[in-house]
Amino acid sequence: MGPRLNLLAPEVRANPYPYYAELRRTSPVCQVAPGDVWAVTRYDDVITVLKNPLLYSSEGMRRATCPAWLEDAPFAHSMVVHDPPVHGRLRALVNRAFGPMVLNRLEPWVREQAESLAARLTAGQTVDLIEAFNRPLPVRVIRELLGLEPSLEPLFPRWADDLTSTSSVAPGDLARMEEIRFTVREARRHLSAVLERRRLCPGQDMVSELIAARVEGEALTDAELLGFLLMLLIAGMETTIHLLSHSARLLMEHPEVLKRVRADRSLVPQLVEEVLRCEPPVHGILRVTTSETELSGVWLPAGAWVMAMLASANRDESHFPDADRFDIDRPGPQNLPFGFGIHFCLGAPLARLEVRLGLEALLSRFSAIVPRGPVTWNHSLSVRGPRSLPVELVAG
Ligand code: HEM
Repeated sequence: MGPRLNLLAPEVRANPYPYYAELRRTSPVCQVAPGDVWAVTRYDDVITVLKNPLLYSSEGMRRATCPAWLEDAPFAHSMVVHDPPVHGRLRALVNRAFGPMVLNRLEPWVREQAESLAARLTAGQTVDLIEAFNRPLPVRVIRELLGLEPSLEPLFPRWADDLTSTSSVAPGDLARMEEIRFTVREARRHLSAVLERRRLCPGQDMVSELIAARVEGEALTDAELLGFLLMLLIAGMETTIHLLSHSARLLMEHPEVLKRVRADRSLVPQLVEEVLRCEPPVHGILRVTTSETELSGVWLPAGAWVMAMLASANRDESHFPDADRFDIDRPGPQNLPFGFGIHFCLGAPLARLEVRLGLEALLSRFSAIVPRGPVTWNHSLSVRGPRSLPVELVAG
């Protein structure tokens, strides 16, 4: 057996898909670096993992996000780290507050934000599309959803960075631990203030509805409310930024698609679905086995870290003919990029809405997007996207 594939090696980060294809062909359940996690790369096996939460537990997410040195870990009370029955109770409580009503209320506002951000972009100059457009849009949406002040937006990138890097802090790096603890306290303080304001003066917004939500007479506790708001902040931001960035990249690589979608905006939703399949922002979802089990002929011990590789499953030839081809006419929607089973992404409709409206705003002003520099990739096992995206926009 050769050395373990390192999922974070620069050449794998730059283009992981040939490596995933090789794993699907030769070793669909095998240990990879870093961390010796078991990568599960075939579509059917990924579904098996995600639909069996009692065997493949979200305790994996808890261990990655709630280290012992972070006394009051931000996600300890959020649904994404829980299995049934706790997960079901939390999800039922937030479901209504996060339903279609929220989207209907937000849609005109999101469109306005997308158009005003697009209007600030200048054609004929090199810009980092992430800084100028792809980041500000989801940041504004999540800020509005959470009822936070616009002046806090500049803090969000640090909050996201710190709250998602808890698992990669070296054991002796006390300074980094303190930085993260400071960020958690700061984010909690601002979100607690929102909760207090909405308690005193409820409105027609998601936070007020979360506070009022009851299932069999039971409400969310304060710790659960804060955990949920913090999770939304993280779950809804980087992923959507990456989806906008992947969309722009694929449109640059496929100018004929850009032309077609520009001529017929009703194709934007199917464009978004194919971007999600070809370049999903979430590459892997962590789970931990609760007992010894067999998957595709491989025995996994109890307590094994398992990574369900969504980005590989989306290109599994047995489910997607000519899987590496970017083809917006494939039948959709592509739901697997948002997970599967009980933890299926609660924000999928919102993410789709934001990216559709974002792309519509860009397409209505610009006739082409031209790459103007190399792309560097972020450094995370679970989420993949460019750090910066230098481009030139062509007026049209
Ligand atoms: C393109 C953007 C997005 C992608 C690709 C994405 C992907 C995912 C995936 C794969 C999961 C499953 C995690 C697991 O099984 O452990 C998930 C869960 C979740 N996502 Fe998203 N997400 C996106 C945007 C959003 C947005 C905008 C929000 C909300 C503002 C959101 C909120 C959530 C929540 C609350 C969960 C946890 C659900 C549960 O545990 O029951 N996501 N997401």
